Amino acid sequence: MSKKPVYILAIESSCDDTSASVICNDKILSNTVANQSIHAEYGGVVPELASRAHQQNIVPVVQQAIQKANIDKKDLNAIAFTRGPGLMGSLLVGTSFAKSLALSLNIPLLDINHMQAHVLAHFIHNNDCKKPPFPFLCLTISGGHTQIVKVEDYFEMSVLGETIDDAVGEAFDKSAKILNLLYPGGPLIDKHAKHGNPLAYKFTKPKVGPMDFSFSGLKTAFLYFIQKQEKENPNFIEENLFDICASLQHTITTILMDKLKNAVKETGIKHVAIAGGVSANSEIRKRLKETENTYKWTTYIPEFEYTTDNAGMIAIAGYYKYLQNNFSDIGVSANARLKVNDLS
Ligand code: KG4
Ligand code: ZN
Repeated sequence: MSKKPVYILAIESSCDDTSASVICNDKILSNTVANQSIHAEYGGVVPELASRAHQQNIVPVVQQAIQKANIDKKDLNAIAFTRGPGLMGSLLVGTSFAKSLALSLNIPLLDINHMQAHVLAHFIHNNDCKKPPFPFLCLTISGGHTQIVKVEDYFEMSVLGETIDDAVGEAFDKSAKILNLLYPGGPLIDKHAKHGNPLAYKFTKPKVGPMDFSFSGLKTAFLYFIQKQEKENPNFIEENLFDICASLQHTITTILMDKLKNAVKETGIKHVAIAGGVSANSEIRKRLKETENTYKWTTYIPEFEYTTDNAGMIAIAGYYKYLQNNFSDIGVSANARLKVNDLS
């Protein structure tokens, strides 16, 4: 007898993107995202504006996800939502919406840890991408986080090392701001770097623990470097944008790769994945792939759609929680500071 399929609606609203997704077992049927362009004007996410925009976007985004999935609300078996970490005002919008919908449809609620969901995006079964076996290492790199995670099971994760100050996405975005590029600057640095020389300029790498990261020093060094060059040549940025971007990106990527090598050496685990918004970066993807030949690692690179914040990753995490009958109490509250190893 074949088992009945499980349909879950997932909602993600931890930062500045409102996203909804419908999953059928481990297959994504829809994944809609409303980006908030308002933040570009301010060079970063403004929390108050983010929560207001979530309020406006959440109903149409959810409706669109259900429509695209070609199902009826009554087909849903559960509602999953991001409990944290993230911006409290943003999380509250998704949390309240998910609770109300679960109550009105009389179906269970699944609260999801955003950091675990970034990792679990590797288990979405929409494509030929191979799924990592346990245990594996995951480098989670985003605008808010930079950590190397040891993943022993779907919800059994521990942090081996992490940033002691800025996240790598912030290093990209703040450096981009110094170069007068719009927010979020990470994808623009990636684009310009393609035409530049990665060895044109040298930036020093931080000295922290073997699996830890620090990016605030690099950002300051980068600012001083640009200011000094501009004193000598006011057109320095325009004339050398490609080389500047390529050199900065090369430095950041080398830092990430060095730390991953340390983690593989320390744990002996050679299955290595990347996750989070910054894992969309083309040089990081290329350098990780190269380790398959140089170090005989097996690498796992998620589809673009599931790297930056999206509800598809919340949906897959919800599916595995559903299989464990690990439902949430209706009184569950958002937690802005949830850690990857917090049970949620
Ligand atoms: O995971 P995400 O969507 O949101 C957070 O949870 O933070 O990550 C957003 C971050 C931003 O800092 C953005 O600049 C960066 O991901 N990003 C990139 C690229 N695409 C997105 N950074 C470098 N290269 C890219 N191609
Ligand atoms: Zn994220």
